[in-house]
Amino acid sequence: MGKTGTDIFEAEYCLREGKLVAIPTETVYGLAANAYNLEAVASIFSAKNRPFFDPLILHCANKEAAFSLFKEFPDEYDKLADAFWPGPLTLAAPKNAIIPDLITAGSPIVAVRVPAHPLTLSLLQLLDFPLAAPSANPFGYVSPTTAKHVFEQLGGKIDYIIDGGECKVGIESTILGYKDNKIQLWRLGGTSIENIEDILEHKIDIQINKSSNPDSSGQLDKHYSPNTKMILLDDEDFRSYIHSLSEKVRTNKALLVFGNKKTETGFREQLNLSVSGNYNEAAHNLYAFIRNLDSKNYEKIIALRLPDEGLGRAINDRLLRASTK
Ligand code: TXA
Ligand code: MG
Repeated sequence: MGKTGTDIFEAEYCLREGKLVAIPTETVYGLAANAYNLEAVASIFSAKNRPFFDPLILHCANKEAAFSLFKEFPDEYDKLADAFWPGPLTLAAPKNAIIPDLITAGSPIVAVRVPAHPLTLSLLQLLDFPLAAPSANPFGYVSPTTAKHVFEQLGGKIDYIIDGGECKVGIESTILGYKDNKIQLWRLGGTSIENIEDILEHKIDIQINKSSNPDSSGQLDKHYSPNTKMILLDDEDFRSYIHSLSEKVRTNKALLVFGNKKTETGFREQLNLSVSGNYNEAAHNLYAFIRNLDSKNYEKIIALRLPDEGLGRAINDRLLRASTK
């Protein structure tokens, strides 16, 4: 258990045997199984301690394989797939009858994507089934962005971990669905709203928390959470809050900031998601930094809200859920 390497043929063998394999993607590491093997899919839920009401995303090698899982889908999905796949975008539409209800938590809708990681794409090309894969972390905790993160928490429950290095994007895929033929955004993620609207040449409807599965994990108020208490503040509140803290109180707290910020004195540690204010860099660092701070037993992590634009929005979404009690 927990064997780690880059042998996609060993991974293929494990998956054909109905076993679990951790796969690198550009967003976060996934905990993968053959989507058509019900026992294997059930073992994803038990390894993560994930409730069965929370549906899984399917991963395919290319657009044709992905779209074959849908019964129908809007024309605009073609444009989106051509623009963003392989990449951090998930598309949801009515499922083909072959998709087990366990995958979709009983919903008639299935969510699929083509991930952008060379090892995982090569693996998917070897397979004649899609991979069901949620993020490879215990339910509710921060998602993994390295093979080591996966090994530390779930190593004992996974047959093979493909080590594909650090995830480039660092936050989960953006999820789009549709209603009355109009595209809706269901989860903020690694593809920004601005980029999607540029491709579609119109605005999209934002329906976070109102997907077909409002209870599913990415939509829960509390999710992506470290064990350490975390609070999220905007610039002004951040300033007055940290200045209100005495030198003594500061010593057991850590700061998680973004952009050109001076180092505040007295805090045990200050991590900057991106000194130059680059959202891609911040997304890439987000989960690794939260894990790092969480391992040090601080009394509290004080996080600074990013500007609400581009990937800043998705990062704020994760910080907010991580801070919710
Ligand atoms: O980037 C990602 O999407 C990563 C990598 C591994 O691909 N996967 C991921 O999966 O974030 P997970 O299980 O942590 O999040 C899956 C979420 C669900 O909680 C739900 O919000 C949404 O995807 N979802 C999946 N299937 C759905 C469906 N049929 N209808 C509505 N929402 C769905
Ligand atoms: Mg997850």
